[in-house]
Amino acid sequence: MVGRMLVLECVSIVNRSTITNPPSESPLSALTSSNGDNKDPLMLSRLIYASAVAKPLDPAGINLLLSQARLRNGLRGITGMLVFDSKYFLQAIEGSQGELSSLYSLLVNDPRHRDLMLLKFGRIESRLFPSWNMAFAPADAAHRAVFGRRMAGSRFDPYSLDGSAAESLLIDFTTVGADLSEALARD
Ligand SMILES: Cc1cc2nc3c(=O)[nH]c(=O)nc-3n(C[C@H](O)[C@H](O)[C@H](O)COP(=O)(O)O)c2cc1C
Repeated sequence: MVGRMLVLECVSIVNRSTITNPPSESPLSALTSSNGDNKDPLMLSRLIYASAVAKPLDPAGINLLLSQARLRNGLRGITGMLVFDSKYFLQAIEGSQGELSSLYSLLVNDPRHRDLMLLKFGRIESRLFPSWNMAFAPADAAHRAVFGRRMAGSRFDPYSLDGSAAESLLIDFTTVGADLSEALARD
């Protein structure tokens, strides 16, 4: 039902002592400066990217993706938000720089999507999605009013967004949302 709260997951932030350094070949290594200030793997950061669905994902596929992501994120202190339509993903992940770097490496190699475009990455003072190990909202017709404000066409196209607009849109989605199974069943 439109207007219902997002599918929420409780956050379980783990003991940060388990966090490891980012791999040296991490896709994020090129984004970090060389002055040493931001080499602390515990540094709280946020990453936002867009990607294209590689092959059609049905509701069961999305549910599986979300449940695995929430479980894994809960163990690693990662929070965030995923927006999906039949063609594209827009996702924000936030946590320690080391954990984000490791997760981004997994995401880049995940065959369920392709053409990842990094829209925003940087250090943050606080989380935008502190209550969700991975909040979810479908970018379906019922939510066109939400994404339509920030996109020229009628379709959800996260590649058209710059980092700030992508971040604002994800925040917009936290204020609306819909039950996952009902929303996908409508399509
Ligand atoms: C669009 C999309 C979003 C994902 N989000 C997450 C996430 O937030 N956290 C996570 O651990 N895995 C996420 N995954 C899954 C990872 O790519 C990867 O499959 C997962 O971390 C498990 O990898 P492993 O079992 O090979 O270690 C996502 C995958 C896709 C396609």
